[in-house]
Amino acid sequence: MVTSAGQGGLFRTTVVSKISRHRSNLEMFDSRSVLLGLATLNGVQAWGTLGHATVAYIAQNYLDDATATWAKGVLGDTSDSYLANIASWADSYRSTSAGKWSAPLHFIDAEDSPPTSCNVDYERDCGSSGCSVSAIANYTQRVGDGRLSKANTAEALKFLVHFLGDVTQPLHDEALDRGGNEITVTFDGYDSDNLHSDWDTYIPQKLVGGSTLSDAQTWANELISQIDSGSYKSVAANWIKGDDISDPITSATTWASDANAFVCSVVMPNGVAALQQGDLYPDYYNSVIPTIELQIAKGGYRLANWLNSIYSAHIAKRKRDGETMIKKKDVDLSGRSFLPPPIPLSEQKKKRAAAGYGCMHRH
Ligand SMILES: *[C@@H]1O[C@H](CO)[C@@H](O)[C@H](O)[C@H]1NC(C)=O
Ligand SMILES: [Zn+2]
Repeated sequence: MVTSAGQGGLFRTTVVSKISRHRSNLEMFDSRSVLLGLATLNGVQAWGTLGHATVAYIAQNYLDDATATWAKGVLGDTSDSYLANIASWADSYRSTSAGKWSAPLHFIDAEDSPPTSCNVDYERDCGSSGCSVSAIANYTQRVGDGRLSKANTAEALKFLVHFLGDVTQPLHDEALDRGGNEITVTFDGYDSDNLHSDWDTYIPQKLVGGSTLSDAQTWANELISQIDSGSYKSVAANWIKGDDISDPITSATTWASDANAFVCSVVMPNGVAALQQGDLYPDYYNSVIPTIELQIAKGGYRLANWLNSIYSAHIAKRKRDGETMIKKKDVDLSGRSFLPPPIPLSEQKKKRAAAGYGCMHRH
């Protein structure tokens, strides 16, 4: 994909007016701290609200009609934003005391050595309290099972919509400096950013010019047109190649490995120190935008295919064959069977636990 100087990326043609509006706001008052205030309320973890909503809108576009009807029913939302509305629920939930247990499920801390060596090893990296990969497996099993309450089924769908987004963000698949949370950088004049939140939130927001649902829908439409008839057309089939809901650990580990490879090639190709030698805007920003757009597009496309597969293999099948045909008393819906065998805690996992699995905010 070609990136021009300036705004860079696929989005540049449609975003110009928004960006200039944003800039004139900045001249009048620090609109960024206003945005940040909102973002903090919603939880600035994992792709920010913009990224997650964009993934969700892309997925909505590729859901089969029957899958969409099912998802709307599960969520009790027949609006045009039924997935986008809940895409960041998991980030709000993790910041409540009732939801704290779910914080480790937003990432897999790959203990590799970027930039020289990037790799994900499920048994080494997931940790005994679970990770994004085990969570995707758990909620894939739970959402399609049919024995859970409406609330538990909705919870499973909300987690899936979120975690299939998280897993495409390279720094959610990396242990180094807690996924970059401890790497202090300057971006666009802000000198106490951390690399993780720049990737999650501030770089995408700089590109799009806002973080509302309508910004997400606009970005999603742009990426959808690239999938349907633009630069992603020839590669989109590869994004879902081999995806198999009956082997969710393998599929989700493949997604995590795919994103983790960008830590070496794009996120920090010259190591951490090189990121701390000046403003990441515009050069670094321009170098990473194509990857951010690619990963958001992938996340949405995969999510649609994954939900379509769950629907046809479980929900539609049950409607067709009736509940009685399905014997699964032996299925363990706690998801414990997906967890890797316990191993002693590494230093990096101890550090992550000590930090409370949170992320560092600017304020
Ligand atoms: C599976 O999901 C349920 C419901 O959210 C949760 O209680 C359980 O801990 C999860 N299991 C794993 C292994 O993540
Ligand atoms: Zn998350």
